[in-house]
Amino acid sequence: MNSTLEQLKTKFEQALIAAFGTDYAGIDPMLVSASNPKFGDYQSNAPLSLTKKLGQPPRAIAEKIVQNLDVSDLSQPPVVAGPGFINFTLKPEYLKAQLREIQADPRLGVSNAKNSQRTVVDFSAPNIAKEMHVGHLRSTIIGDCIARILEFRGHDVLRLNHVGDWGTQFGMLIAYLREVCPEALTTANAVDLGDLVAFYRKAKQRFDEDKEFQETARQEVVKLQGGAEDSLRAWNLLCEQSRREFEVIYKLLDVQLIERGESFYNPLLLSVVEDLSKLDLLVEDNGAKCVFLEGFTNKEGEPLPLIVQKTDGGYNYATTDLAALRYRIEQDQAERIIYVTDAGQANHFAQVFQVARRAGWIPENLKIVHVPFGLVLGEDNKKLKTRSGETVRLRDLLDEAIARTCTDLETRVKEEGRSETEEFITHTAKVVGISAVKYADLSQNRTSNYVFSYDKMLALQGNTAPYMLYAYVRIQGISRKGDIDFQQLGADAKILLQEEAELTLAKHLLQLSEVVSDVEQDLLPNRLCQYLFELSQKFNQFYDQCNVLKAEEPLRTSRLLLCDLTARTLKLGLSLLGIPVLERM
Ligand code: ARG
Repeated sequence: MNSTLEQLKTKFEQALIAAFGTDYAGIDPMLVSASNPKFGDYQSNAPLSLTKKLGQPPRAIAEKIVQNLDVSDLSQPPVVAGPGFINFTLKPEYLKAQLREIQADPRLGVSNAKNSQRTVVDFSAPNIAKEMHVGHLRSTIIGDCIARILEFRGHDVLRLNHVGDWGTQFGMLIAYLREVCPEALTTANAVDLGDLVAFYRKAKQRFDEDKEFQETARQEVVKLQGGAEDSLRAWNLLCEQSRREFEVIYKLLDVQLIERGESFYNPLLLSVVEDLSKLDLLVEDNGAKCVFLEGFTNKEGEPLPLIVQKTDGGYNYATTDLAALRYRIEQDQAERIIYVTDAGQANHFAQVFQVARRAGWIPENLKIVHVPFGLVLGEDNKKLKTRSGETVRLRDLLDEAIARTCTDLETRVKEEGRSETEEFITHTAKVVGISAVKYADLSQNRTSNYVFSYDKMLALQGNTAPYMLYAYVRIQGISRKGDIDFQQLGADAKILLQEEAELTLAKHLLQLSEVVSDVEQDLLPNRLCQYLFELSQKFNQFYDQCNVLKAEEPLRTSRLLLCDLTARTLKLGLSLLGIPVLERM
């Protein structure tokens, strides 16, 4: 089914051509949902942007478009307003027909994308033996949401975890391992290193204090790169143990990823350098091989280099990303590649993309984007830290969210005089706690920093996961109370939209598909959150103002239908955010 917006756009284009000729085919009708219901449901300001091109006043242009516009099957006659807007108000009959259509559709009117694209979403990407920090949490939550939305739209998504599993730090780690637990190098998986972050810290301390150890560490890197068996065994051990810790988090968050770490691209690094050299893009600078960038300069205004091979012959983060990019293009046949990292890496990606582009590696049909996000701040507005000033461990952060939810829930259950099983409490606390953390992250425009506050994210009121989950629960309560099986509501049931609140809710329900395709384009999950938040609010207004179970037929069934559609929309929308619903809470 075509969304209302798509239908309007098609008709608008036809009218433009009829009014001004085929030169005007393909012009953006600039149609948007009206921000103020006073102006109807949709508004176009195309006439204003066409004034120059047509040399006519905008209102005259608007009139001409309207004369040629046949939207009678869905809208009241369009109205020319203000300096030259065209406003559309949908007909109740059309709305009812649309509602009936989405009711019968498990996808609630969200169609599949016309062209399914092979899409890589590169997200999460923590580093072996290092802390998985809140930045990785954001990447994991946002990346998963983007992947879910693209998958739902029918794209072929490859969820890649570009784990930091290679680099000079392994020299230090393995050298230290050799000292403190030599059996790790002789026997596979011989030891449990326990807290890897503490291990990393100790190794680093050793490295910083001892010149001789630094040399050993450097040699260890060479050995590892040369494929020495004992070094590889130690490396594997470190990776394996980190991986297990990451898995705990992914499981808790219900996130799927395919691990393809930096080490995967090792065999391809040399050819990146060789090919750049063949293309005459490489310059030797103090022994390092680099590409001088366009548009990136130092303080003196000289172009900055992107180093792809260091003086000692080693490769770096950028080289690996160039190799990964090529692999994703050539082997994975990607048509869209999305990188989800903190905004601090914006330059890194701009530089890598530029070099790849200048090397001619980026085919025309490929879209590559960096999807940046801001910092997570503590309530003091500074980078999130524990009370003792250390970086917050993800595990602890999630556990705390669950623990607090659990306490709140136990209090509420007691106050309401309910008796609930331990199992119910544990399960509910886990779902609500994790969802609250996810939602708090996704509901902000990702490009801005946000303040991490348990109190705010766990509140039952406001733009929070608990509020949204509660709206869903409330609707399930209606079905329980009235002993109604929503699935049995006939597709032929009469729909009535008499009250303002009913109409407002109905119109909102019909906008899901537009919102989903917006997010598919601009990759801003907060728009979906906002939509769901407004849906919950509009539902609550409707439910406060209109009797449902006590209404007479056929009104009762019609209203139950709106309840059911709201619940299904919430469930689907939340699932795209990676949030499951609860029947009770
Ligand atoms: N491991 C990196 C970090 O922790 C993120 C990797 C992002 N992906 C990429 N292809 N560079 O910052």
